Amino acid sequence: MGVKLGILGLGTVGTGTVQLLQDKAGRHPLLQEIEIYRVGVKSLDKPRAVELSTEVVTTDLESIVNDPAVDIVVEVMGGLEPARSLILKALSNGKHVVTANKAAIARFGAEIFTTANQAGVYVMLEAAVGGGIPVIQPLKQSLSVNRIHTVTGIVNGTTNYILTRMQTEGSNFSDVLADAQRLGYAEADPTADVDGLDAADKIAILASLGFGGRINLQDVYTEGIRQVSKTDIAYAEKLGFVIKLLAIAKRDTPSSPLSVRVHPTLVPQAHPLASINGVYNAILVEGEPIGQVMFFGPGAGAGATASAVTSDILNLVAVLKTNTAVANPLIACGHQEYCQIAP
Ligand code: NDP
Ligand code: HSE
Repeated sequence: MGVKLGILGLGTVGTGTVQLLQDKAGRHPLLQEIEIYRVGVKSLDKPRAVELSTEVVTTDLESIVNDPAVDIVVEVMGGLEPARSLILKALSNGKHVVTANKAAIARFGAEIFTTANQAGVYVMLEAAVGGGIPVIQPLKQSLSVNRIHTVTGIVNGTTNYILTRMQTEGSNFSDVLADAQRLGYAEADPTADVDGLDAADKIAILASLGFGGRINLQDVYTEGIRQVSKTDIAYAEKLGFVIKLLAIAKRDTPSSPLSVRVHPTLVPQAHPLASINGVYNAILVEGEPIGQVMFFGPGAGAGATASAVTSDILNLVAVLKTNTAVANPLIACGHQEYCQIAP
């Protein structure tokens, strides 16, 4: 029997995910097991880039998370509400959840993971940080033995795209922002990108995974790129720097307080993060004994994000098909907020 997906949202990420799920040839064999059973949207009148039968698409998202036939809910609608309530309802109803929603995870992670633990189901969030970059799973799993000192990232594709074009083409901030929106990189409300809030959500998640404990967003110093001018960028270049919006989580010793912040930063041109341009993101993790590890890749956009969402879906399909736990960071972890137990 196929695994039935209920997808909440058919925008940039939802559409990319449906396209990937429908284009099965030469990809993972478990794609054959997946049925796109219901898809929830706001408007039935919008033209869509994917073909779905009219019985599949609905504006009644509650009916998806309450449908006993749905095995996995894929939340790619974004925003805080109703996304939070729908995720919680899906989990309470015994459905695994895949989400790309860093804003919801950064604010309601504890509630979401507690609900998942109680229901014995999984929450997967690889797409929530770094778009297509696999960073959640490696940070939580492959690097778990390390004593992490710093996580430093370019974790917002929109702002990196804007800063790069301001630097290389002398483009105007507002023109480039419009391009980032057109390309599907920006949030529905792009102030979350431009003012550093999206990066703050992401570094809060990474810091929680890397250092343990829960990060309160109010404790994350957050400054965006609105004040960065073309003149600043030109002066920085003359002095041997580039300006990047960095998200930083740092703890000097295991007993030092953790500092988590987001702000435009003068990065020396020889630094590994200085050459990360356009929509690309990179996350540099420093720890002991590993030293430095850097994760790099497309940080936003339909295809890249769909890659991460779909890999989470496939992990859950494997769980459902084999009735075993997957090698997932959220299953075997030491930090309550992002910890999952086997169902
Ligand atoms: P979009 O705005 O492109 O799409 C949102 C979709 O959700 C639309 O299909 C919309 O319906 C639907 N939707 C939103 N609110 C409701 C509602 N109240 N009821 C019913 N349907 C609703 O967003 P994205 O695809 O860009 O982003 C989705 C999520 O993925 C967000 O959490 C975002 O932060 C995250 N993300 C996005 C990335 C990207 O590159 N865009 C990368 C990584 C994560 P309709 O189409 O009818 O308007
Ligand atoms: N708006 C986000 C960005 C999408 O530009 O990075 C990916 O999380």
